[in-house]
Amino acid sequence: MNRKKPAPLSVWRPLNLDRFLLGAPHYPEHVDEGSWQRDAERMAAAGVNTVRMGEFAWHIFEPREGRFEFGLFDRAIEILGQVGIDTIMCTPTATPPRWLTVNYPEVLRVDINGRPSSHGSRQHADTTSPVFRAHSRRITRAMAEHYRDNPRVIGWQTDNELNTTVSESFAPSTRLEFQKYLQKAYGTIAALNFAWGGHFWATAYDDFSQIDLPRPLMPSYPSPGHVQDYHRFLAAATAAFQHDQVEILRAANPDWFIFHNLGQLADIDLRGRFGQDLDFIGFDIYPMLYDEMRRTGGHATTQAFHLDICRAYSGNFIVPEQASGLGSQPGFSTMTPEPGEMRRMAMTSVARGADGIMFFRWRPAHFGAEIYWMGVIDHDDVPRRRYDEASRFFHEIAAVKDQILGTAVRMDLGIAGADFDNQEAYKTYPIGLPSPLEDATLLHRHCYHNGIACGFIHPEDDLSRLKALYIPHWVMWKDQWNEAVETFVRNGGTLILSALSGTRDENNHIIREQAPGNALSALSGVKVTEFGRVAPEGGSGLFPLFRPAAMGAYAPPPLPASSVERKYLFTLGNEEFQAAHLYELLEAAPDTEVLGAWSNRFAAGSPAITARQVGRGRVVYVGTYLTQQLVEKLVDVVLTKAGIAPLLPELPAGVEVTVREAEDRRLMFVLNTTETPVIVPNVPAGVDLLAGKPVSGTLPLDAYGCVVIRLD
Ligand code: GAL
Repeated sequence: MNRKKPAPLSVWRPLNLDRFLLGAPHYPEHVDEGSWQRDAERMAAAGVNTVRMGEFAWHIFEPREGRFEFGLFDRAIEILGQVGIDTIMCTPTATPPRWLTVNYPEVLRVDINGRPSSHGSRQHADTTSPVFRAHSRRITRAMAEHYRDNPRVIGWQTDNELNTTVSESFAPSTRLEFQKYLQKAYGTIAALNFAWGGHFWATAYDDFSQIDLPRPLMPSYPSPGHVQDYHRFLAAATAAFQHDQVEILRAANPDWFIFHNLGQLADIDLRGRFGQDLDFIGFDIYPMLYDEMRRTGGHATTQAFHLDICRAYSGNFIVPEQASGLGSQPGFSTMTPEPGEMRRMAMTSVARGADGIMFFRWRPAHFGAEIYWMGVIDHDDVPRRRYDEASRFFHEIAAVKDQILGTAVRMDLGIAGADFDNQEAYKTYPIGLPSPLEDATLLHRHCYHNGIACGFIHPEDDLSRLKALYIPHWVMWKDQWNEAVETFVRNGGTLILSALSGTRDENNHIIREQAPGNALSALSGVKVTEFGRVAPEGGSGLFPLFRPAAMGAYAPPPLPASSVERKYLFTLGNEEFQAAHLYELLEAAPDTEVLGAWSNRFAAGSPAITARQVGRGRVVYVGTYLTQQLVEKLVDVVLTKAGIAPLLPELPAGVEVTVREAEDRRLMFVLNTTETPVIVPNVPAGVDLLAGKPVSGTLPLDAYGCVVIRLD
């Protein structure tokens, strides 16, 4: 396997490996050594080329401080290597062993009420702790030195799902590190006092050593600047923790690829050092966990949404953990993928940019906190339908991998996502509004169901391949993005700005110019004269009558619907719409067309949605938040005009479509996410690569059926 130097971060970036990684996380330490050979043979027969190991085995690698034992994993790697299977090794820092937390209790994370974590699960150590970092470097160095010349160890995963269970810590050492971070960032205490607004509620400091960690609602709200910097600090500390490991691994063997497997994106800035340090990112995908999130519209839609967001940071990625069967921990469980569904969910990952898939996990554990988290093989060591399905998938992908590798996922509509500061700025002051990504979900979901090529992107990325770009309420708009979006528009693109865009600076101060700020005003032809909240149906976000019971919650509890009755209406085209969440009254410049206007109460007559021609493109300003009804209309009046059409017209319900393309080829993935066979009309001519036969016109798909068409 060859590894090229990674290209700079971009949503269009292909993976820098010439192998499609196919395999499973594997835990040889959970089974008798007697079964290792059979495991290896079954894996090889199924088409596995790589396994991942070791992420929770620090106690085996270093049973006592300074005493390292690699025998168990060496033997496991060797047996797999004999049948042609390579290993990705992991740094085991998600689970420091008991001797470490007994001898160095100061490494334990501390919760918001000052209670240290207990030992007995995982992610109990504080990655901001200098003592823990020293241990992390020690174990990483020992492992790197041991494996540097082992040809079967081809790459590394750092830690495991950093910050997924918990990302914050309120330990005394965290406070000290936070102070050091601030000193470096601001230089003088006066600069920090200005940034955080020290004259508000007498929150100014004389010295960095006086600064505490922000504790929301203890007793009232801290400054948004203080909270934002705490999260910037946590992200910087997480990146530094990982960087320690990356530096050691790269020095030991520069041919190794290095990635991290993300779970949730908490306090991780992937466009910053964290992502730049890696060859590519890994994203763990358990679609059926998303069924818990009922508002998101089902697991297939949400899987697509998560994958598209993940790709926005760094381009193509791998899925080091792709769901195979039922998953559970003591407090919850998912549904079980039906026959064909595990393959379909994996194919969705590939369709949206995965260049490596590993089914979690080879075998389920017989003990521990995940005994009913199923694997490819069952508890009784019998390969059944999940093994057959994994095997089918691996062989299919292996046969077409050269066509897939090197392609990027097509996007006609880009949604600005993937910006740490904007995500955090929202969280410092949400006032019950949806987050940028929650708002974007409505647009993404519409595109998903209608077969429009839509994904997420950052304004600093290459925008030239898009037809339209939607900016969802990015309050912290940065001057350096103006030129990029203006060029995009002048060259024919459609830019859609939305309410509250550009209203704060990097300190979370409200700007002193009229919203959306001079540059965005000039571009859009719009000035905001007033904004106000519109309470959503069911209420939420207005002032709570009673104090939220849970300390640490930023968002107030919902109010009963009856307490908020004011509706704000606007017209767009010949339809009337009810505004959600926020209204903005706009002033439109003479060269700016009013597409929609407020139609009731005191707002009647004021512009609500505008469009301005700039060069060969258009800037549309939407002075409210999206609703399902508004999305549908915007697709009609804005996106269609921008030249955006579905990849497949009349896409049947439950069928998803994407295109992965390179200069010389276009691969269309058409996937049936339902248990019912379906006929897909309007399919362009090409060759179904999995079945090896030509297709055109109507395409029958089985239940959970998957087709990859190389278009003519
Ligand atoms: C992931 C994690 C794995 C395993 C899996 C199933 O989030 O990385 O270690 O816990 O979920 O719960």
